[in-house]
Amino acid sequence: MKKDKTLSAQETEKQFEFMDKVRKYNREGMRAYIETFGCQQNEADSERLAGMAEYMGYTVTDDPSDADLIVVNTCAVREHAELKALSVTGQFKHIKQNKSGLIIAMCGCMVSQEHRSQSIKNSYPYVDFVFDTRSLHTFPERLYERLVTGKRSFDISGSQEGVIAEGLPVRRASDFKAWLSVMYGCNNFCTYCIVPYVRGRERSRRRENILEEARQLAASGYREITLLGQNVNSYGNDLYDDYDFADLLADICRTDGDFTVRFMTSHPKDATRKLIDTMAENAKIAKQFHLPLQSGSDRILGLMNRKYNRDRYLDLVGYMRLKIPDITITTDIIVGFPGETEEDFEMTLDMLSRVQYDNIFSFIYSKRKGTPAEKMASQVPDDVKKERFERLIELQNGISRRKNEEYIGKTIRVLVEGRSKTDDSKLTGRNEKNRLVHFEGEDSLIGGYADVTVESVQPHALFGRLV
Ligand code: 5AD
Ligand code: SF4
Repeated sequence: MKKDKTLSAQETEKQFEFMDKVRKYNREGMRAYIETFGCQQNEADSERLAGMAEYMGYTVTDDPSDADLIVVNTCAVREHAELKALSVTGQFKHIKQNKSGLIIAMCGCMVSQEHRSQSIKNSYPYVDFVFDTRSLHTFPERLYERLVTGKRSFDISGSQEGVIAEGLPVRRASDFKAWLSVMYGCNNFCTYCIVPYVRGRERSRRRENILEEARQLAASGYREITLLGQNVNSYGNDLYDDYDFADLLADICRTDGDFTVRFMTSHPKDATRKLIDTMAENAKIAKQFHLPLQSGSDRILGLMNRKYNRDRYLDLVGYMRLKIPDITITTDIIVGFPGETEEDFEMTLDMLSRVQYDNIFSFIYSKRKGTPAEKMASQVPDDVKKERFERLIELQNGISRRKNEEYIGKTIRVLVEGRSKTDDSKLTGRNEKNRLVHFEGEDSLIGGYADVTVESVQPHALFGRLV
């Protein structure tokens, strides 16, 4: 085994001691509110924060005005996400004005940047402490110090390497869908991206810890397990010589239970034929692959430091469709990366037409402080970015709609997730291929499987009738 970054049992034990101390220090009936921005990894982190808060005697509430402790878990991937977290935190100031004992903490990717933690210290006097993504497990210690000493703390000293904390309490948001982090951090340094700076180096959890967590989830009836990592398919590279992500997936599929496994996010440079073969061979793995392309221009891919080109990417897609003909393929696209010309952008449109993605997640390039792309010449003007963004969406909407139309008249099995966010009279479910389906039905169906006949479609959703 290579270098294992797992925290020692004593260090984890130390945080449990702080959790006990907080519980004894507080009066009964304390409430905690956690607001989460950003990706699934942040959602998974917030489930640990909620677990620790509960262990410390707090009841988790969804009303911030009711809380004695507020934690804002922030995102830094684009400026918009940062501004949103700051504005929401600003609103909590008013709650604190009427409740002096309220403690407000911030964590996550935004505050893991020195300039942000310093500006919060100076301009947000009602924020009590911050802790970075690499020190999530020190939340109890920091909270206890704040309670006892009253001092604010803004030290984001988590090592760039990062650690892995096992065995922290967790309070899962769903009792049928679970996140399972398998690795943390990123080593890729795509030139636009802040993640490697705020989440530290790639570090994989030991396989026995992951397999045990999967076993527990399956035994408690979880229907869907999503394996998470910033760069999930490089799992194992830092830890084992002869055990990779495909091996881990195959081992998870050997766990007893009626569940589906998904994973995200994959990097094309680490997407191997072995991984695709493993997906084809295991019924438990959802036939869905999220494979961020970012740009269809080889020149821009080079500037982005993505380490693959169009041909290699198309080759992978070809192999996926050969092995799993009906596979769902989705992607992330950035428009307006510095230096992107009309010709480069048309290469991206060309890739959309060639690959025929089921869905894409598209983003307007956002300058991130301290990344190489921030300093690149010829930043693309905002109006050009916006115009390209709209053309991209228009092309993809046509493709997504056509792909959805193939479902009309078919009956599909979906996992029912809850009430539709836009229409309370309907339930929302997803099929194995991650297609969103809305249909009328009883609450009692939530958390189980249902068969739905598709009657009509939009680019991003199917509409149907319960069989
Ligand atoms: N600007 C715009 N989009 C970005 N992403 C990452 N960094 C940036 C940035 N600076 C996008 C990428 C990534 C997704 C999670 O966010 O497409 O895959
Ligand atoms: Fe960011 Fe690239 Fe790492 Fe993804 S692979 S987190 S885009 S640096």
